[in-house]
Amino acid sequence: MKVEPERLEGVMGAAGDPPDPERGSEVEQDGEVREHAPRRDQVQLPDGLGVDATSVPLVGNRGVDVAVRDHDGATLERGPNHFDDVLLARGQEEEHLGQGRRAGRARLEQRPHRLAERSAVGLARQPDPLAPAVEKRGEVARLGGLAGPLDALECDEYPSHRRASRERMTYSNTPRHARGGAPRALTGFPSGAHSLHGMTFRKKLLLAFSVMIVPLGIIGAQTLWNVRQERVALQTLEESLARARVFADVESVIYRKLRKVRDYLTGWDPQANDEFERLDALLHPRLAEWRQSSVDPDDLRLAGALESLDVQTDTVVRRAFALYRGGDRAEASRLIQRELNGQILPALDSTIKSIYTTSRTHNIARAFRNLQATERSTTMVLIPIILSSVVFGALFAVLIARAFARPVAGLKTMMEMVGRGEFDQARAVEIRSRDELGGLARQFLVMAERLRRAHEGIIQAEKLASLGQMSAAVAHGLRNPLASIRAATQLVLHQLPARSPQREHLQAVIAEVDRLEKRIAHLLDFTKPVAFSPVAESLSPLVDRVLAVFSEKLARQGIDLKVDVGSDLPDAWIDAVQIEQAVLEVISNALDAMPRGGALALSATRIAAPDGGASLRVTVRDTGEGIPASALARVSEPFFTTKADGTGLGLAIAKRFVEQNAGSLTIVNGEREGTVVTITLPASVTDAVPAA
Ligand SMILES: Nc1ncnc2c1ncn2[C@@H]1O[C@H](COP(=O)(O)OP(=O)(O)OP(=O)(O)O)[C@@H](O)[C@H]1O
Ligand SMILES: [Mg+2]
Repeated sequence: MKVEPERLEGVMGAAGDPPDPERGSEVEQDGEVREHAPRRDQVQLPDGLGVDATSVPLVGNRGVDVAVRDHDGATLERGPNHFDDVLLARGQEEEHLGQGRRAGRARLEQRPHRLAERSAVGLARQPDPLAPAVEKRGEVARLGGLAGPLDALECDEYPSHRRASRERMTYSNTPRHARGGAPRALTGFPSGAHSLHGMTFRKKLLLAFSVMIVPLGIIGAQTLWNVRQERVALQTLEESLARARVFADVESVIYRKLRKVRDYLTGWDPQANDEFERLDALLHPRLAEWRQSSVDPDDLRLAGALESLDVQTDTVVRRAFALYRGGDRAEASRLIQRELNGQILPALDSTIKSIYTTSRTHNIARAFRNLQATERSTTMVLIPIILSSVVFGALFAVLIARAFARPVAGLKTMMEMVGRGEFDQARAVEIRSRDELGGLARQFLVMAERLRRAHEGIIQAEKLASLGQMSAAVAHGLRNPLASIRAATQLVLHQLPARSPQREHLQAVIAEVDRLEKRIAHLLDFTKPVAFSPVAESLSPLVDRVLAVFSEKLARQGIDLKVDVGSDLPDAWIDAVQIEQAVLEVISNALDAMPRGGALALSATRIAAPDGGASLRVTVRDTGEGIPASALARVSEPFFTTKADGTGLGLAIAKRFVEQNAGSLTIVNGEREGTVVTITLPASVTDAVPAA
């Protein structure tokens, strides 16, 4: 990776910022963990896009707050990138920032419309924003207490929205190609994609109910199938019984026909032969009906035998009737005795018996068998289902109960810790669950953290208030005597002749009194609680008012002033007194940095925000001596000064006022010379227009 440190536009860190959960972090230095203000990195990509990365303590992890800027400096996207505690414990904050820039760039690349603005080739040729972090590896090694500088710092693509990809970050003293193998996971991150950890609360509940519903569904389906099978079996049985009834009719007609033979041949009923024929005519359709109602081959064979016996009966009977009518009664009786009683009737009895037997065994037994088969298959299906439901149901019940109970228990533990004021221990509780309960626990920690910071803020404010009261008392006691000294000195100065050597001493006295007055004013500004009342305010007259204060000094130092504050700018939503004071401090510093002349450029522009809102950016550039890299991180600290007569409160007050107005103040060295201070302020809401 080629390193181009000059791409790093500037690095600024400042300690002593007001406590804010979004800001401030800890870093390990010289073996002790110290609270300090955010460290920021800004990277300007060649095509005007940029990434700001600010290290912040994020709940549960440390991380980097990444802002992605477009050509106009508008923030396209902003959000945290979590990193591991292990990294911060090593003090590798620079890597955090490097990773943040990398993540920011990854986000830039994910924006298709932004990508379209740049050529893909151009993007590919861009130097990697991570490079400056690598360049600083010596420093990193020092912070991390490593034996020597890191010889490699690698990072795979790191789209921040995919937390799992964190596992692909690797820090090493040996490049990947030399190491071989896959990158080592830095954290014990649950690979929750396939476990209950990765599921939302809703999905877990759905899964639990599904597990209970599936066996119930199977049992229900099996029951329905059973009912159907039983209905089929009973229907078959009913059909068999109906056939048996038809056959009973057939049997009755056959025996009635035979009785008519006896009645006719014995002379009991001379009309019985006609009755025989009538019964025979009745028998045939009933026999056909009974035969057609079965497809069973045994039944069909027996029906055929019965029909054949009936035909034989009819033949014998009709011959006997003819003999009887011809007067040969003895021969008729013998024929009946021999053919009908001797042969046909036994065969007929046997066939009818077989038919009854077949009907019973084939039909009733078949229906019974069907019912038995149904019962068997039901048992075979239901027993494994019931057993597996019991086992899996119990297993899932335990898993789901654990999945619910653990985060709740963790949350309870956290709440108890926060209740006892053990914030650090609460933060150390590992929140593995990524469902709503996990989210609740994280949010609780955020809330607890904010409470802690707010509480600290209150304590700090109380301290400042008492300091302010004390300063006010001291100032009151000092200011009046100082005013008297100044007035008296000026009076004497006026009375002295123009060439008197005493004049110089008296002018020095007045200058010292002025300096003392300024120090007292600064001290009061810094310590007294400030009232904040924002209104819609135009920046142009505000800037004019501030510049008027410096008109004499500008001319005296021969400063070339350039002001570009468009009259068409929207109003800012600010407390004018505070912002005037902030701009005044910044310009005062710029003039102090150019004692032998230079150029001062002051501009204000409107920045559209993606959400349709807007903000205003005031930029103050000077061509002064600039700020040494070692001092840049500390310039906003209260009482940090490099000037013999400075209080070191100017920038601290300016930053405090700007941030109170929901704005931000950054200070970086100019590309070639001097210093650039950027103040961002909210625009009045009436100016909000839909983002392009
Ligand atoms: N435009 C600038 N050019 C060079 N150095 C600067 C500039 N602005 C601030 N600094 C540095 O930051 C330090 C802190 O600035 P700050 O305004 O807080 O205090 P001061 O100017 O030293 O004191 P006072 O504001 O009370 O006069 C300065 O001493 C100076 O070293
Ligand atoms: Mg100053």
